[in-house]
Amino acid sequence: MSREVVAAVVTEPGRPPELQKVRIDDPREGEVLIRLGATGICATDLHFSHMMSKPAVLGHEGAGWVEECGPGVTRFAPGDAVIATFARCGTCANCRAGEPAYCTRFDDLNFGGTRENGSSAVEFDGDAAYAHFLGQSSFATHMVVRESSLVDLPPGADPRAVAPYGCGLMTGAGAVLNVLRPGPTDTVAVFGAGTVGLAAVMAAAAAGARAVIAVDLSPERLALASAVGATHVVEAGGGDVVSAIDEIVPGGVDFAVESTGVGSVLTAAVEALSRRGTCAVVGIGSESTISLDWRTLLNGRTVTGVISGSSLPEVAVPDLLNLADAGRFPAEKLVRNYAFTDIAEAWEAARSGGVVKAVLQF
Ligand SMILES: NC(=O)c1ccc[n+]([C@@H]2O[C@H](COP(=O)([O-])OP(=O)(O)OC[C@H]3O[C@@H](n4cnc5c(N)ncnc54)[C@H](O)[C@@H]3O)[C@@H](O)[C@H]2O)c1
Ligand SMILES: [Zn+2]
Ligand SMILES: [Zn+2]
Repeated sequence: MSREVVAAVVTEPGRPPELQKVRIDDPREGEVLIRLGATGICATDLHFSHMMSKPAVLGHEGAGWVEECGPGVTRFAPGDAVIATFARCGTCANCRAGEPAYCTRFDDLNFGGTRENGSSAVEFDGDAAYAHFLGQSSFATHMVVRESSLVDLPPGADPRAVAPYGCGLMTGAGAVLNVLRPGPTDTVAVFGAGTVGLAAVMAAAAAGARAVIAVDLSPERLALASAVGATHVVEAGGGDVVSAIDEIVPGGVDFAVESTGVGSVLTAAVEALSRRGTCAVVGIGSESTISLDWRTLLNGRTVTGVISGSSLPEVAVPDLLNLADAGRFPAEKLVRNYAFTDIAEAWEAARSGGVVKAVLQF
């Protein structure tokens, strides 16, 4: 059985999502039907909207309430407040080791556009739509999600207020707290001050790093970085970023986070490291190779890619919400809310960079 709901559908590559009627399946074995309360728009949605070869429902920062549970679902009941994250298989070695962001089937499950058996829970205009995006497809009033992609919210947490924790915030914060792990004597440079980079800034400040340097092209975003914990800012485009960082921290920073997805910025992020420094690569862009003098790596430097902050979402989301409750992760400063029906305006604000984190409210 299926029901008619409203979704924002990308009907052609690069075209903004538009509200359309779609049909969504009832939840099958191990699946849960969610009624969305809110969803963030992430840079990854914008990026993938250009690559869709068939009508697609994107969106992967959804939070809401359980509407209906499919057969075999044990952890949830109708009415539960939940936040959704990426899909995992749950059985591969990395999933079993508590590292589901490195699930060996991550790409199929999250970017394949279908369930494991090739079916789609969403039908548009009589055909199967590309759905299950990053385990979700949250640009819709309802979505069908695997039980293992859901995290139950702590009592009192409002799904409408927490949606971006499921991707952007968890990604940036996790790169710092799970991977780089700075201590009070350490220095951190964060390249890119969007949601991901600012989450990294907030996390580095919360971890007590001695210096937290934000780098961006936008003076407004750098001002926001200072407001959420950066000790220094560097305006890129205004000269040599690596020298500017070296002036702030002679010899280079212990840790860098690259969140722009721009190849030349990744090169700079590695060059800004101290000896034995580590750069976490998080950004996704259209470039696939970078130019790097490999002799810079010989000084004990490490470059490591990070998916979803290397997070175990059922641990990371409540931990970050606790940090936010304690006033040490002021993520609300990044958010502007829009009605779901105003997705065109929200999409353009996210695309142009006018808003850091656009959140659609249902
Ligand atoms: N690895 C993951 O699991 C994961 C998860 C979520 C998002 N992402 C990716 O992370 C990236 C950041 O996401 P976001 O939501 O923060 O995006 P965003 O577009 O809001 O932020 C990117 C920032 O980079 C800045 N920037 C662009 N070019 C620059 C340059 N040359 N020098 C300095 N700054 C520059 C922009 O001004 C912007 O503030 C995206 O590429 C996104 O696709 C990765
Ligand atoms: Zn995302
Ligand atoms: Zn797995």
